[in-house]
Amino acid sequence: MPNFAYINNKFLSFKNAKVHIEDRGLQFADSVYEVIAVLHGNLIDLDFHLKRLRNSLKELDIKYKFNKNELKKIFNKLLNKNNTFNGIIYLQITRGVQYREHKYEDKIKPNLIIYSRNKKFNLPGKDFKGVNTITHEDLRWKRRDIKTVNLLPNIIAANKAKKMKAYEAILLQNGKVTEGTSSNIWIIKNNNLITHPANTDILKGVTRTSILNIIKKTSLKLVEKSFTHKQLLDADEVFLSSSGSFITPILKIDKKKINNGKIGNITLKLAEMYTKSCMHG
Ligand code: PDD
Repeated sequence: MPNFAYINNKFLSFKNAKVHIEDRGLQFADSVYEVIAVLHGNLIDLDFHLKRLRNSLKELDIKYKFNKNELKKIFNKLLNKNNTFNGIIYLQITRGVQYREHKYEDKIKPNLIIYSRNKKFNLPGKDFKGVNTITHEDLRWKRRDIKTVNLLPNIIAANKAKKMKAYEAILLQNGKVTEGTSSNIWIIKNNNLITHPANTDILKGVTRTSILNIIKKTSLKLVEKSFTHKQLLDADEVFLSSSGSFITPILKIDKKKINNGKIGNITLKLAEMYTKSCMHG
């Protein structure tokens, strides 16, 4: 367990860090969040996360202003206090506390919650592993580009995966892949790297954005286009990306092995390039 959390403007012991029962985050999932990877003490892709956070706040009309340098100071202090060298920062901004009514008041004051957790990442090297996945219907709402804590459909699919001893569930909508329950999905076919376009049907992953920058240095051809369940199963290689999993190879989807159940060369290369870019900024 971490030692400390940060709520609004105070560091508190993790055990005693609480919000009120009428917080709208709790009652309505009226709340946005970010998960930021910390690798060797570095905050990975911080600017992209804060840009997306500002956008989520704007889309939901949650009036919360923050300053990057102040937040960075809080993050670093928390990492220190919690001895987090490798792990994640979890940040949530709820709309705030008010008597329970669907409509919110103009003057409601948002709550800021931040803490860190230690985590061992799946990085290229001798322990680099690929994972099994399942497919599941995408049951979510129509604004998946906003990073809200409204995650029940993701939770249902992720726990179905857990039950099947799989790492992630790949979500399908009308026979096409959108993304994972907490990751973006990529396929490689004949040197084409294909991933769903960043529209309202998926979350525009920060890791996804970094990978797009990296592949400019390779001979891969990027195709931002939705792909079918069949294309997924027929792919040469498949991987997922997220701040919690970096680039993680997918070796099996339901009963179908991908690349004979082995980590593919292109996925490995991309994972190496991405990890390197995280280390060197
Ligand atoms: N999830 N798609 C969904 C639905 C996600 O929840 C996430 C991240 C991603 C990948 O985004 P990024 O590369 O910015 O982490 C895609 C975080 C890690 C989570 O909820 O824990």
